Amino acid sequence: MSDTPIGGLRIECPPKINLYLRIVRRREDGFHELETVFQSVGGGDTLRATPAAALSLTCSDPEIPVDGGNLVVRAAELLRGRIPARAELGAALALEKRTPVGAGMGGGSVDAAAALVLLSRLWGLEVSPAELHELAAQLGSDVPFFLHGGVAVARGRGEELAATEGPRLWLVLLRPPVGVSTPWAYRQWAASRCEGPTLEMFLAALRSGDPDAIAAALRNDLEPGVAAGVPEIEAARAWLLAQGVLGARMTGSGSVVFGICRDEAHARDIAARPGAPGNVWAAPTLSQSEARLAIRALETESSDHAGR
Ligand code: C5P
Repeated sequence: MSDTPIGGLRIECPPKINLYLRIVRRREDGFHELETVFQSVGGGDTLRATPAAALSLTCSDPEIPVDGGNLVVRAAELLRGRIPARAELGAALALEKRTPVGAGMGGGSVDAAAALVLLSRLWGLEVSPAELHELAAQLGSDVPFFLHGGVAVARGRGEELAATEGPRLWLVLLRPPVGVSTPWAYRQWAASRCEGPTLEMFLAALRSGDPDAIAAALRNDLEPGVAAGVPEIEAARAWLLAQGVLGARMTGSGSVVFGICRDEAHARDIAARPGAPGNVWAAPTLSQSEARLAIRALETESSDHAGR
């Protein structure tokens, strides 16, 4: 019996929305100082890893790169590079992609965080939480959040995290037929066209647990600039509001727009209606205990070769 199941490991990769995103300023290093609230959302990709002589990645979506252009491969190489004696460690990684790309839901980032957690376990590495956080931050601004999941207030580039709590919310998500590039979205930002509730106001609404209050306090400073260049964003928001969601905002750098619903039945009813200007689905928000990757990595693949 070994610590590493021979049959391999599987991890679910729940994406996120930004319930709140205020840009404080543009920094000298080109990044933007944020005050944001990340919130894990149900569903997402599945990443599997089995022991192998070399590192490889396959993906269910042929449009997605499986070389160094994929954050999963970069995460694997970064982790392996930390352990010089293990530079030849391999793994066969398989990514089942469900979260849309260019959506503002951190699909690539959660896959990268998942790869760090999964491969640490598969390779039997002792990586401290602080080191995992540092590796994650090198991969992308929102990658560290996904190690923890749930609801968190983030500052800095998005890597300075403070966990918080919020109610279970039911969402309708709408992906217009266009993706948005994150660097482009940030370049469209202009402080002059951003206004809205303060973070304190949003957090007070979140603490109230009232979906109406939360819906009224949503904010995304990337939305005005992106919507000015991508008319599909406003069309998505208008459709969701016309269906009776309590409030709607773009998530992150877009293009997905989410609507807050009263409850599960309300979200599922709206998601089933025809005529949406894009792909539409219902999903719940997840708590940290539901979304934390470190816990989810314990799931082992059932396999004829399972080492137990
Ligand atoms: O960190 P990440 O690789 O996800 O960022 C992608 C791009 O988004 C950055 O190159 C930068 O243009 C922009 N960005 C930013 N400020 C942030 C996060 C991202 O300007 N806080």
